[in-house]
Amino acid sequence: METSEQLREVEQAQDLFKIHGTHHIEFYVGNAKQAAYFYRRAMGFALTGYCGPETGVRDRASYLLEQGKVRLVLTTPMNPENPIADHIYKHGDGVRDIAIHVEDAEEAYRIATERGARGVMEPVEFSDANGTVKIATVATYGDTVHSFVERRNYNGAFLPNFAPRQDALAAPIGLKHVDHVVGNVDWNKMEDTVNFYKNVFGFSRFVSFDDKDISTEYSALRSTVVANENKWIKFPINEPAEGLKKSQIEEYVKFYQGAGVQHIAIECQDILQSIATMRDNGVDFMVVPGSYYDDLQERVGDIQESIEDLRKLNILVDSDDKGYMLQIFTRPLEDRPTLFFEFIQRRGGESFGKGNFKALFEAIERDQAERGNL
Ligand code: FE2
Repeated sequence: METSEQLREVEQAQDLFKIHGTHHIEFYVGNAKQAAYFYRRAMGFALTGYCGPETGVRDRASYLLEQGKVRLVLTTPMNPENPIADHIYKHGDGVRDIAIHVEDAEEAYRIATERGARGVMEPVEFSDANGTVKIATVATYGDTVHSFVERRNYNGAFLPNFAPRQDALAAPIGLKHVDHVVGNVDWNKMEDTVNFYKNVFGFSRFVSFDDKDISTEYSALRSTVVANENKWIKFPINEPAEGLKKSQIEEYVKFYQGAGVQHIAIECQDILQSIATMRDNGVDFMVVPGSYYDDLQERVGDIQESIEDLRKLNILVDSDDKGYMLQIFTRPLEDRPTLFFEFIQRRGGESFGKGNFKALFEAIERDQAERGNL
């Protein structure tokens, strides 16, 4: 079995407007106050900002959670007429906005919409005592959007209307930054979505996997990773593929009622420590069989972590020609089998874990079967 994925850069990416990286990821959730408690208590995020009725925003409440460079915003509507409520009714809790920090929001919006993106919000200025932020929003797959956040004239910690909060509860567990955000799209929509990122953002095809790479005895998917010029933004796009039984992507699309964010991968300072803490805190992870570790050394070569420690925590390893990476996936964090998190630590490796797909997807299938969705 081939265990290292070849990183094939088919085209050279060239950002069509200046991108600084991921700004934040906003979730629409049914109860942001309680969801925030989960991310604080289970994953060590600190509540650092809040906006809602107390800060002059009448129609919603948003909680800003931070750790390292990761910023999550959890937003809930205050009444059923709010379109946020429609989003939650249809999709359950999920990611609405993968917001991108750009140099110039007006330029980004103009170029993206000229090149085929559907505009959701034209550039708007938001101001407070710290200055002005300009935000514009375009649609991507499903009901997911990308906001362009321009903050060169803003000195505040996050965005206007957010009041700072001190968090005595959360203890950071070494999460550093977002490595990639994965979108699941419907049958035969992957190429269109990849072309959208190429045409509208100037991203390139970073690596592709066909259904032979990503299949088990029963189910399959196809995946292509697009990335921006400096590779700080990486968006793998998955679509279902034919198998004997139902693809996990098809299960997602059915329960999310369309395309949406499947998982967010976060880089850890020390994945062994982060996962041990999250396990103690009650985070539920996918389980691969113990036999996965029996021939791990032969598959991935020398690694500095002890195989016994990895086995104990059920952390997976994959290698490529540049090094290796450690990874683990949570189970879905909602009752619908939709969004989950991945935690990774790269030790040179640039892979997305191709060598682990089979073991991992067999684990996902066991859960799918238990839900009656295989
Ligand atoms: Fe991933």
